[in-house]
Amino acid sequence: MNKRNFIKKLMLLGLGTSCTPSSFAMPNKLSTSMKDFFSADDASFWASVRKKYDLDPSYINLENGYYCVMPKEIAEAQHQYILTGNRAGAFYMRHQFQSDQTKLIERLSKQIDCRTDELMISRNTTESLDLVISGFPWQKGDEAIMAQEDYGAMLNQFRLVSERYGVVNKIITVPLNPATDEEIVAVYEAAISAKTKLLMLSHIINITGQILPVKKITTMAHRYGVAVLVDGAHSFAHIPTSMQDLGCDFYGTSLHKWLSAPLGSGLLYVRKSTIANLWPLMAEDPLAKDDIRRLSHTGTRPVHSMQAIHTALDFYAWIQPNRKENRLRALQNRWTNQLRGQKNILLNTPEAPHRSCAIANVGIQGLSPARLAEMLFKQYNIFTVAINRPTVKGCRITPNIYTTMQEVDQLADALLEIAQKQ
Ligand SMILES: Cc1ncc(COP(=O)(O)O)c(C=O)c1O
Repeated sequence: MNKRNFIKKLMLLGLGTSCTPSSFAMPNKLSTSMKDFFSADDASFWASVRKKYDLDPSYINLENGYYCVMPKEIAEAQHQYILTGNRAGAFYMRHQFQSDQTKLIERLSKQIDCRTDELMISRNTTESLDLVISGFPWQKGDEAIMAQEDYGAMLNQFRLVSERYGVVNKIITVPLNPATDEEIVAVYEAAISAKTKLLMLSHIINITGQILPVKKITTMAHRYGVAVLVDGAHSFAHIPTSMQDLGCDFYGTSLHKWLSAPLGSGLLYVRKSTIANLWPLMAEDPLAKDDIRRLSHTGTRPVHSMQAIHTALDFYAWIQPNRKENRLRALQNRWTNQLRGQKNILLNTPEAPHRSCAIANVGIQGLSPARLAEMLFKQYNIFTVAINRPTVKGCRITPNIYTTMQEVDQLADALLEIAQKQ
């Protein structure tokens, strides 16, 4: 088949140019023009954003930390890709998938400020980070550093490599209200020894919402020759995430969290000079040791979800990263400011505004986290999640950009009412 006939055939199948990033943008659906965007006052702009979501009106969803509901246009794009992909069958996979994947990697690399040959698409943060933790070239007696506030699945993976390879895990506690960044850096530094090989830290701690000074910790760790793995599950498309700024060796995230891409999409960044050191989870055909594609073989994938990542990137660009970050922080500050210092209220999130963004955690003296989550849902229609960990006990509260100020006010009123009755 010559090139012209081939493209004609793709068009008939609903593919071809309709699968290029320019059409992923679906500009007709992103109806607010840049002019409207800048002239809109905040309240009306965010009200128009809310209309882009198909929300369940029966409850207030403040559990966007698990994953973020997709705006309608991203969900519709995914459905459309399911239909066109199903019609095309293997033809799309054999003839177009590779070039679409390359374009997506180019776009994501630009978004996190890294080279295209340092990024691979994964299914989620768990896959990305576990690949690094299990694929690291461990020797018996090597040490790894992590925090007890880190995500359970990653701590489990470190436990596994400890049992398998004899790695020694050193688990620190992150200070919640440090006077300076250096106080946090010092805690990690104190755990380093001559045997330390890898340090994992969360860019945003999922149970408290605390943002860690990644660059400072990375700079310190590199002075000792220790590689740094960043759990970016909650930072990508929430706060700025430039690999150049963070300076880490590995960074993994889920795109179904703050980017609002379809479930089962993530990415892994590996600094070019460290790719050759990692073992893959699943073997690929022999490739150069420093070729990142060596790490990303997972068999046949739900490509419609990958295609819709383009739409999610368009949506994020339209919202604008700094505007999104400011809005999310404003939503959190609005309710936490009403509660700080109030009787029986325990806020498990740093006081300094730059140390957190959308996510915060609140407990009530004398109430278990599970009971508080139950009361919020059953008595006030507010959905949250109970966190019961050694250093953090409370409900994690995670608004999204569709959340209104009135909704977080309702949360504050509910918590004050419950706290007063204790
Ligand atoms: C800090 C952190 N890391 C990793 C994960 C795992 O994400 P996923 O289930 O998308 O792999 C989560 C999920 O909430 C998380 O909060």
